[in-house]
Amino acid sequence: MIKRSVVLGCGSYLPQRLVTNAELANRIDTSDEWIVQRTGIRQRHIAADGEFTSHLAINAARAALRSADIDPQSIELIVLATSTPDNTFPATAVAVQNGLGITHGAAFDLQAVCSGFVFALATADNFLRTGAYKRALVIGAETFSRILDWNDRGTCVLFGDGAGALVLEAQDLPGTSADRGVLTTHLRSDGRHKSKLYVDGGPSSTQTVGHLRMEGREVFKHAVGMITDVIVDAFNATSLTAEDINWFVPHQANKRIIDASAHKLHIAPEKVVLTVDRHGNTSAASIPLALDVAVKDGRIKKGDLVLLEAMGGGFTWGSALVRW
Ligand SMILES: CC(C)(COP(=O)(O)OP(=O)(O)OC[C@H]1O[C@@H](n2cnc3c(N)ncnc32)[C@H](O)[C@@H]1OP(=O)(O)O)[C@@H](O)C(=O)NCCC(=O)NCCS
Repeated sequence: MIKRSVVLGCGSYLPQRLVTNAELANRIDTSDEWIVQRTGIRQRHIAADGEFTSHLAINAARAALRSADIDPQSIELIVLATSTPDNTFPATAVAVQNGLGITHGAAFDLQAVCSGFVFALATADNFLRTGAYKRALVIGAETFSRILDWNDRGTCVLFGDGAGALVLEAQDLPGTSADRGVLTTHLRSDGRHKSKLYVDGGPSSTQTVGHLRMEGREVFKHAVGMITDVIVDAFNATSLTAEDINWFVPHQANKRIIDASAHKLHIAPEKVVLTVDRHGNTSAASIPLALDVAVKDGRIKKGDLVLLEAMGGGFTWGSALVRW
């Protein structure tokens, strides 16, 4: 028997305010047609004034705890992936811990931009598999609207706000690929690509929060290769194949990147969970938001094999295979 991190529940939260492409086209030189054609995005949710990343995260965490049907006090570890924390410090995870009324165990943030959720899942999985903790909350939560340059049409149309969370529990299982739980995770980073996707501010450099800057075409050029490489790593580590996958839940940045990755990996289009049209790119929140949509609408069921992947600023990229 080995320890596996099994998903007990998931939840998500989106701010109420919906911003359509048409509304953006009233403010900047863009069009619904351009945005849909290049990205697949039709709308995004934007946090209200005074609504912080921690607020979105607490709502998502509460929903995940409800779906897991467990006592929040049994959570010993909270790993929160975000690039848009409430404050430079303390970690937003600590605000979430406090919001849930938990005073034991550990809570910390993790920063890997759009790959943050996969990095956080891998981190929590490692703590659970070593027996350090029994139950964990893994959260991706973002208010990217706060770091966008709303005059830069090349970036501001792409992103949205939101949060998603999973509850994981360490369970002793046989150790085969038929086990439920996180079967394998693969993380990569390469800082040579920093200038292609970054925020032009920060506490140590400018003492400001800064704005997101991106060479979109350069990011696009690298994305599919990096995503497919790290998915092949996951297949090789488990002897599972694209045929075995029930659901592909990629980071939701751009429909064209998702379609090209699925095509290259021979993953059938009907297995791809797509939410970028409704949520835009919510960075670290996009995967748990998409998971929650597909669980709630009955697509992802217990025992299904789910493939996750993400790629983002750094560059960072990663994959995970999870049997639900
Ligand atoms: C951003 C992205 C959609 C741009 O699409 P693209 O086809 O590469 O477009 P380009 O940046 O080359 O720009 C093409 C033209 O559209 C224009 N354009 C850019 N944004 C626009 C917008 N929102 N509305 C209308 N026109 C726009 C550009 O100014 C350019 O005009 P020009 O030819 O007159 O100079 C695309 O590069 C992309 O999706 N990249 C990956 C981004 C990503 O996923 N990032 C997150 C990773 S986690």
